[in-house]
Amino acid sequence: MSFTIVEQAPARLNRSELAVPGSNPSLFEKAARSDVDVVFLDLEDAVAPDDKERARRNVVEAVNDVDWGAKALSVRINGLDTHYMYRDVVDLLEQTGDRLDMIMIPKVGTAADVYAVDMLVTQIEAAKGRRKRIGFELIIETALGMANVDEIARASRRNESLHFGVADYAASTRARTTVIGGPNPAYGVLTDADDDRPRDFHWGDMWHYAIARMVVAARAAGLRPIDGPFGDFSDPDGFRAQANRAVTLGCEGKWAIHPSQVALANEVCSPSEAEVAKARRILEAMAQAQKEGRGAVALDGRLIDIASIRQAEVLVRKAEQIANR
Ligand code: GLV
Ligand code: MG
Repeated sequence: MSFTIVEQAPARLNRSELAVPGSNPSLFEKAARSDVDVVFLDLEDAVAPDDKERARRNVVEAVNDVDWGAKALSVRINGLDTHYMYRDVVDLLEQTGDRLDMIMIPKVGTAADVYAVDMLVTQIEAAKGRRKRIGFELIIETALGMANVDEIARASRRNESLHFGVADYAASTRARTTVIGGPNPAYGVLTDADDDRPRDFHWGDMWHYAIARMVVAARAAGLRPIDGPFGDFSDPDGFRAQANRAVTLGCEGKWAIHPSQVALANEVCSPSEAEVAKARRILEAMAQAQKEGRGAVALDGRLIDIASIRQAEVLVRKAEQIANR
């Protein structure tokens, strides 16, 4: 390990994160009763400009009055380039109790954006004597945000997670797509022409770089990397595939933009029983190896070593976190 110790964000279960428009209070109770790990009430892009103030009032009321159970509760405020954002923060922090866990900041472009919100939140917390420190969820969804992702990840001790906002990221980078997440038939490679064989076209994942880049920045700063939305809520297989590839790269969870996606996200982002059983066997085999003074042994015909302990511990810890929720 490096001599630099990475401090980890609070260990919060974040397999699924349900987006709920603040302008639609009829959805709040259902979200509160769902099996989701984190709910975010949205004041930003799911709310039309004429509805912003009403949505803010709805959200303040819902944070105070709805029974959110053991879920983590977050509110997505408006961007720093709007005139809504300061009042989102002021009203939320002045008018809600300690039930609010996090604020989600969209379209973060620089570390100074996070610093500015931190300053405002810190002042209101002190003035109002709020006891629970508000955490930050940051959406990386612009070219500027991705270019500055390492500094953004380290910009505040309130930071808990980075989220890949695929829709705005596509718009910001001018990627040629109009769907929210998912593969694109234009993004792939055609195998070389070869007289003996037909040519194959292999679809690629056009979001691979962005997600992998964000995962590295998040993990290097001790934050949770979370994959954002998949717009086609009538395609559970598509959702599962998108969630699977994000988790495979290190993401801890995925957004649900429809309640039907919550169970899918929980399923994909929880280690399976077989994976956990295998991880426990690795830990047992390595404990035995270490007693015998060996650093590496074979298990099921494959080499495992001390790095395998760290991989297995990640899975076992996650399983324990899910069991204890
Ligand atoms: C989320 O905010 C997105 O833009 O995908
Ligand atoms: Mg967005």
